[in-house]
Amino acid sequence: MTRSAEHVVSEYNDKDEVGMKIVSRIDDVRSAVMQARGEGKKIGFIPTMGYLHDGHLSLVEISRGITQFQVMSIFVNRLQFNDSSDFTNYPKDLERDIAMAGKCGVDLLFTPDDREMYKNALTTVDVSRLTDNLCGAHRPGHFKGVFTVVSKLFNIVQPDLAVFGQKDIQQAASIEKMVFDLNFPVRIILAPIIREKDGLAMSSRNKHLDQQQRADALALSSGLKHAEQLILGGERDVKKITHEIESIIKKGNPDSIDYISVVSYEDLSYIDRIDGKSVIALAAFWGTTRLIDNMIIEVAGDSYKCIY
Ligand code: PAJ
Repeated sequence: MTRSAEHVVSEYNDKDEVGMKIVSRIDDVRSAVMQARGEGKKIGFIPTMGYLHDGHLSLVEISRGITQFQVMSIFVNRLQFNDSSDFTNYPKDLERDIAMAGKCGVDLLFTPDDREMYKNALTTVDVSRLTDNLCGAHRPGHFKGVFTVVSKLFNIVQPDLAVFGQKDIQQAASIEKMVFDLNFPVRIILAPIIREKDGLAMSSRNKHLDQQQRADALALSSGLKHAEQLILGGERDVKKITHEIESIIKKGNPDSIDYISVVSYEDLSYIDRIDGKSVIALAAFWGTTRLIDNMIIEVAGDSYKCIY
């Protein structure tokens, strides 16, 4: 029998030796953070939806290098799921998450429920233009849900710094813009993509892949590696690069490809030639599992750098 989140949390907090505190109420976050601030600590924040992996933990590691008190949230945010079965099936394992977060140096774990976050809520937050392309074009309402929950979490935690992964590059770029536009007093850090040894970008959703799909899904990172080779060889034409990535992804038999897009890093608008700082972003389905990956490219004359 699976135990309720409430039960898991209270059992954990009852242990004597715990270094990390777990709270589910907003008031409790505020008082723990206020106490840490009173001790002169800077607050780092890592928002997640749980089912933690090394990618999530790398964000904590980065934050620990800059701040002294780490807050992580685990909240599967219904508002950002445009597909209700994707929400219902989102993987969860709170006991495992608690053990992982505690070990990697999280000081305060915030695990609210839907009611605590959205009781009688009528307000949403949106960022236009930056969400027109890529995932924004394929997941209607998704980013509005992300910005709304991240705004709320920023107001609840009031961190000095928050870390987001390059893995979700459109999310990170738009949150940076939201923070600037709405004057949130928080510094946003972009963290590199953590991959499995064979190149697959770590994701909570990888759990849904069967063995064959797991092997096939390597087509995404292979597509990016191939694009790097093309860029190394001097290719800058987006149509040609996209076409070659597509043929590599198709070899992995995806059930569908959402997009293979090349955009400018600055405003995520589509471009025809790779120049300056750009992003190649990919999204495809294996079964009902939607996976994304991307690469940042910095080109200056003949020299280039690919970050993925
Ligand atoms: P989630 O998918 O749990 O991701 C939480 C954070 O971990 C995000 O900043 C994401 O970019 C980062 N991340 C995921 N996989 C990563 C990887 N392989 N390497 C490095 N970082 C990785 O993104 C969300 O949750 C939600 O949208 C959230 C921001 C919490 C709002 O609900």
